[in-house]
Amino acid sequence: MKRILSIILAVLLIASLAACGNGQKTETTAKSDATTSKADDTATQAEAAQQGAKTSADNDILILYFSADNTKDVDAVSTATPMPNGESSVKWIADIIHDEVGGDIAPIIPSKDYPLEYNALADAAKAEVDNNERPAYEPLSVDPTQYKTVFIGYPIWWYTLPMVLETFFDTYDLSGVTIVPFNTHAGSRDGNTYNMIREREPNANVIDGIAIAGSDAGSDSAKTQVVEWVKKLPLE
Ligand SMILES: Cc1cc2nc3c(=O)[nH]c(=O)nc-3n(C[C@H](O)[C@H](O)[C@H](O)COP(=O)(O)O)c2cc1C
Repeated sequence: MKRILSIILAVLLIASLAACGNGQKTETTAKSDATTSKADDTATQAEAAQQGAKTSADNDILILYFSADNTKDVDAVSTATPMPNGESSVKWIADIIHDEVGGDIAPIIPSKDYPLEYNALADAAKAEVDNNERPAYEPLSVDPTQYKTVFIGYPIWWYTLPMVLETFFDTYDLSGVTIVPFNTHAGSRDGNTYNMIREREPNANVIDGIAIAGSDAGSDSAKTQVVEWVKKLPLE
């Protein structure tokens, strides 16, 4: 009996040592993941995003949009968005498009909170451009590669795409997808960003988008302009 007991104890000891070894391995892996390069971070993000599923199985249209106020820092005194109520002008357009075409709609949420006070945001965005950064964003709730048409909205920042959009285009190969850009601005119009998107997604069909002055967002005339543009789009 004593012998059987000691055999059982020995088996239990070996089992617990094995479990300990696994835990350490996981910890080591996690640590080495944390020290990998930005490119690896982007790959990890892509994997996470690829796991996102369509929210409606039979939807062919996705509307994605990025704006600084997709962040959680909404208490800023002087917001960088031109909408009087502090709502993002890009989101205002995204909602109009959604009302017109239906489909799924999802924000691109940056992993860091951008300041919404104009000068602070301008400095933060400028530093990203100067350093050619690839700011991370939270895993999307959808997989953009699974849609026939992807609208993508953003403001012009420093004459170009917000750098988080560069991260997005680095992450996804949208071959075969029809991309429809839309953007707001304060004079730069599309800032040649539609051609930039064509360069980043050479196998996508990138349609010329619509550029709305941020100061016009919220107006009836801008709404009509967006609705008329959507109606004429060559969507299947
Ligand atoms: C950091 C920053 C940089 C900007 N750079 C430009 C620019 O180079 N050209 C331009 O026309 N507008 C520029 N704007 C104005 C925005 O494109 C415009 O206010 C837009 O409507 C903001 O979109 P939102 O309301 O969704 O945040 C800039 C705004 C910010 C906050």
